[in-house]
Amino acid sequence: MCKNLRCTFIKLFGIILLSSTGILGVEFVELKIVDEPSSYGLHAQQFGSPEEAHLLNLRVAPANFSGPPHFSRLIGRCFSEIINDYKYDLCPFHNLTQHEQRNQWNPYNGVLGVWQEWDILNNTFVAMIMKDGDSCGSLFRSARITFECGNHSTIVNVTEPVTCSYHLVFRTPLVCHPDSMLVYPTLSKDLQQRWDSLEGERLRGYWTDKGYSRRLREIFEAAGLFLSHSHHEQLQQQAQEVEQEKARSGVFASFDQCKESFKELQEKVKRLEQELESLKNSSGLHESHS
Ligand SMILES: *[C@@H]1O[C@H](CO)[C@@H](O)[C@H](O)[C@H]1NC(C)=O
Ligand SMILES: *[C@@H]1O[C@H](CO)[C@@H](O)[C@H](O)[C@H]1NC(C)=O
Ligand SMILES: *[C@@H]1O[C@H](CO)[C@@H](O)[C@H](O)[C@H]1NC(C)=O
Ligand SMILES: *[C@@H]1O[C@H](CO)[C@@H](O)[C@H](O)[C@H]1NC(C)=O
Ligand SMILES: *[C@@H]1O[C@H](CO)[C@@H](O)[C@H](O)[C@H]1NC(C)=O
Repeated sequence: MCKNLRCTFIKLFGIILLSSTGILGVEFVELKIVDEPSSYGLHAQQFGSPEEAHLLNLRVAPANFSGPPHFSRLIGRCFSEIINDYKYDLCPFHNLTQHEQRNQWNPYNGVLGVWQEWDILNNTFVAMIMKDGDSCGSLFRSARITFECGNHSTIVNVTEPVTCSYHLVFRTPLVCHPDSMLVYPTLSKDLQQRWDSLEGERLRGYWTDKGYSRRLREIFEAAGLFLSHSHHEQLQQQAQEVEQEKARSGVFASFDQCKESFKELQEKVKRLEQELESLKNSSGLHESHS
């Protein structure tokens, strides 16, 4: 979302209020100048180009690789597909971005999610979860990547079942073997033993469903397959601090944030102009029009 857009402060913009008797006063307002006017021009000529990819920033750092070991061959690779006027770049274990292809004034280029964790159901890796993408109202964009078997790796489909929450279907030969997505074999001996005893205790009626799920979750967190709640909080907090710092120094996280700030300043300038006008009138200083 227009990460290339920088709004910088021109420190003090003085409005000098004059009257026939001299200087009435000087008002200073902060004026922000959009020095790289959004993606205007740049993207119109270069949309979809690789250069624009590095203009996007990830809010949080991607998690480390985890999951089926044979998926490690996807590390550092990216897959692109254009679907309904949007180009999607999926870089497994890193990020998912979206690039609007229509040649319009301000095409959307944004991060839909950053790699964080797996979704696991019934001892099976069912989806890669990418979270903490660009802001979307009070939320952040996120995506679920599910798999289907095919003879080469490609993005099959992207939908947005819930606003700003995406579902991408990735076709790949990596999921074709029936056992390829089982979780248990990927765990360390230690964690396998923990899981074994958990299953035993469950059979003996030790755990409620909730208690069992919680302990299983702890095993997956220990394996790095799930992000712990506290780790996620920490990521969020770090991202917020960076964003607040940027806003303070006049670099905005989003085009919307910058527009908002610009609007406020426009209103401030308008108010000052009106004040100037009324001061001119009350001091009897009128501009003469011929
Ligand atoms: C990734 O792994 C490295 C070394 O194994 C570790 O220091 C780091 O904290 C891990 N990063 C995350 C986000 O878990
Ligand atoms: C997305 O991941 C790819 C592959 O790891 C990386 O080259 C690229 O810089 C990442 N994009 C962003 C916006 O960080
Ligand atoms: C769980 O997976 C096993 C095989 O891996 C399968 O037989 C069983 O039907 C699955 N259960 C559910 C609820 O999907
Ligand atoms: C792979 O898929 C393509 C098109 O879907 C098909 O033409 C080709 O025969 C397939 N190759 C193999 C090895 O299955
Ligand atoms: C993509 O998903 C949409 C919505 O579920 C569906 O209508 C469409 O047929 C799908 N396209 C492909 C190529 O699977």
